[in-house]
Amino acid sequence: PAKRLIDYRPYPFTLETVRLDFTLDPDATEVRAGLSFSPRQEAAALELDGEDLELVSVAVDGRALTPDDYELTKTGLTIPAHVLPPQAFTLETVTRIAPSKNTALEGLYMSKGMYCTQCEAEGFRKITFYPDRPDVMARFHVTITGDQPVLLANGDLVESREGYAEWVDPWPKPAYLFALVAGDLRAHSGTFTTMSGRKVATNIWVRPGDEDRCDFALQALHRSMRWDEEAYGREYDLDIFNIVAVDDFNMGAMENKGLNIFNSKWVLASPETATDADYERIEGIIAHEYFHNWTGNRITCRDWFQLCLKEGLTVYRDQQFTGDMRGHATKRIDDVLSLRGRQFREDRGPLSHPPRPDHYREINNFYTATVYEKGAEIVGMLHRLLGADGYRAALDLYFERHDGQACTIEDWLKVFEDSSGRDLSQFKRWYTDAGTPTLRVRDSFKDGTYTLEFEQETRPTPGQPEKLPRHIPIEVGLLSENGDEVVPSTVLEMTEAKQSFTFDGLATRPVPSILRDFSAPVRLERDADTSELAFLLTHDRDPFNRWEAGRALAQKVLIGRVQGQATDASFSDAIGALLRDETADPAFRALCLNLPSEDSIAQALYDQGETPDPAAIYAAREGLARDLASAHKTLLAEIFTNTEATGPYSSDPEQAGPRALRLAVLRLLNRIDGGARAGALFASAENMTESLGALAALVQTGQDAAAMAEFRDRWQGDRLVMDKWFLVQLANCPPEMALERAEALTGDPLFTWKTPNRFRALMAGLSGNHAGFHRADGASYRFYADWLLKLDPVNPQVAARMSTAFETWTRYDEGRREKMRSELERIAAQPGLSRDLSEMTQRLLG
Ligand code: ARG
Ligand code: ZN
Repeated sequence: PAKRLIDYRPYPFTLETVRLDFTLDPDATEVRAGLSFSPRQEAAALELDGEDLELVSVAVDGRALTPDDYELTKTGLTIPAHVLPPQAFTLETVTRIAPSKNTALEGLYMSKGMYCTQCEAEGFRKITFYPDRPDVMARFHVTITGDQPVLLANGDLVESREGYAEWVDPWPKPAYLFALVAGDLRAHSGTFTTMSGRKVATNIWVRPGDEDRCDFALQALHRSMRWDEEAYGREYDLDIFNIVAVDDFNMGAMENKGLNIFNSKWVLASPETATDADYERIEGIIAHEYFHNWTGNRITCRDWFQLCLKEGLTVYRDQQFTGDMRGHATKRIDDVLSLRGRQFREDRGPLSHPPRPDHYREINNFYTATVYEKGAEIVGMLHRLLGADGYRAALDLYFERHDGQACTIEDWLKVFEDSSGRDLSQFKRWYTDAGTPTLRVRDSFKDGTYTLEFEQETRPTPGQPEKLPRHIPIEVGLLSENGDEVVPSTVLEMTEAKQSFTFDGLATRPVPSILRDFSAPVRLERDADTSELAFLLTHDRDPFNRWEAGRALAQKVLIGRVQGQATDASFSDAIGALLRDETADPAFRALCLNLPSEDSIAQALYDQGETPDPAAIYAAREGLARDLASAHKTLLAEIFTNTEATGPYSSDPEQAGPRALRLAVLRLLNRIDGGARAGALFASAENMTESLGALAALVQTGQDAAAMAEFRDRWQGDRLVMDKWFLVQLANCPPEMALERAEALTGDPLFTWKTPNRFRALMAGLSGNHAGFHRADGASYRFYADWLLKLDPVNPQVAARMSTAFETWTRYDEGRREKMRSELERIAAQPGLSRDLSEMTQRLLG
């Protein structure tokens, strides 16, 4: 049965304090809980969530209850009102759990001998009986007894001796922010002094051997703490901030109060083992989890329907941070690439849902690109509509008004309305409506007046057949034919289904630059001819739209090739101009050289009402890359030779940019030099960025056996690098080799499939090989579905998440559709399927 937003009722009790005493044991951890409740309603029963718990005893105000006094089910414990005192009371329970048997990695579990927790969204109910909902906020006092050298929980440490630690968190919090870690851990430590002078001890905790890969994360934490003070006026509020790296983790990281827990992949970094992109991601995720301290923890969500309240805002904040650290233009392009690749893709298929959904069966299935990335885009639109000062004023009011509360999207929008005086009722549709609007634009010029005529339309999505127009901020600038900006950037506000905007007093017909900085998450349709796109790629002031013009050009050419048309020279000429433009930022040039992915070409064809043919798309893209390489081989070879980063390794843009450009160039040359340069770079590489870049290029030629074996020999003891090894050889190999390789790799002793990172590396490698996954005989689909079925009983969350490889099934031809559909039906019919995967397959089947 689905949970529904409209069924929200406040909890009938307040919970003041929580006392938790843990006695750790892999098979029988004892949890003593003391919860002090006060009724807010008369004669309410006390309903507590609880799953996979062994109940040892229950008492109310010291009086032991007997089984007649309560009802115990598979999902919880209910104590009827007549058993409870009419005023405040304390409930004491003793439960036992078995962390070593917890393979779902939700609740308290073990990873390589270390105890750790993951409670968001509903994992706390696997630790003890509790009102496991975010609007119940309480102060936690936690003791841990166990023979591990390090015992951690939320808040400040008040007492510790061998085998015992006591932690008090002064800030009321929902149970999903609870965390406990115990193990043989080493700290890489620092201190941070906040703007008001509080001295905070900062620690990155890792398993022995990883200590020397923590400093980047620690410095990133300090940069995040400073940035949140400067950009949002937000200061840290405890004397200690701990981050723990865990190898077995279902997602990226988790913002538990004062004790963030991370997938070790997003903490550990050294030049030999992490790529430039990893460094940037680590910095961004450290920031994201830290920023949650205010947007998520101090102000949390009333219920899980409001998830994007904390996630959309926090993603937006981490995007701003990374832009400040590493450059806004390239960050914006990266973010839009990922938005289109994941969120637009999700929005165009059977899993499409609003950023604020109104029903779900399993909330873990809603930690999606729509909630996170589209949620961030919505915050970005509010920023653009109100301006920097208006946005800051609204955020100040948000923190002032709602600190300590569990809030809704309505509360959030009200803050913007109250601080700006604007009516945002139409804008709210961005939260409640699913689907990506298509924005069509036509232009005309007459007597010095230029007119832009827009039309918006959103296709029906599951459960939402009819769509009303949205409030869309469209940032526009106009250029003269010699490239001058005749009308500087301005934000047009579209609110109607059809709307025109005029610009007067122009001497000649301008060239429009529309949707600058990607000012709204829409699909822009414009019949721009190739010369206009080439012009914008050279002249636009807005770096995003400059890149976007190149992208549109590449897309046009690729689609033409898929349809068997001859390719005109405009794209190649524009690339030539870009290669000669030494004033342009290297990272930006690299982004312009990267061709659209096969998946995005498939999506573009589907959007145009055509059926994508994966093999034809692969061939078109390879062909274009080869043609570009041949056309510019001298120029490319020159750049490859002359663009070397110098000095000791740093992941800063000054070095990462040139490395990215060099690798983008390598990927093109690789198509015509038989892998010669890639082989040489692989042999001489001094950091993982180059080593993996070279390896990926070799894989693309299919001539990678020796390099693969060498890489494996060298790195077999390093789990994070081995994840890359599994992924790179599948995602980049010629499509006809992909499935065979994947099958062989599942027999590799290093394929420890119960470890989420390893499972994801192999499966995402295969599904990321577009033509290999979508081979016409459906064999990859079958292989993939078999593994989802195998993982589901062990780790339903990861199995459900990985099922999104099938979310595009409606795009393809009848044969592929039927094959994917029948795999989904086979999964759906599996007896004992988890709620997670069962909801996903049902939604996927529509
Ligand atoms: N709140 C975490 C973050 O975004 C992610 C938690 C994901 N939880 C889940 N059940 N999928 O930083
Ligand atoms: Zn988050």
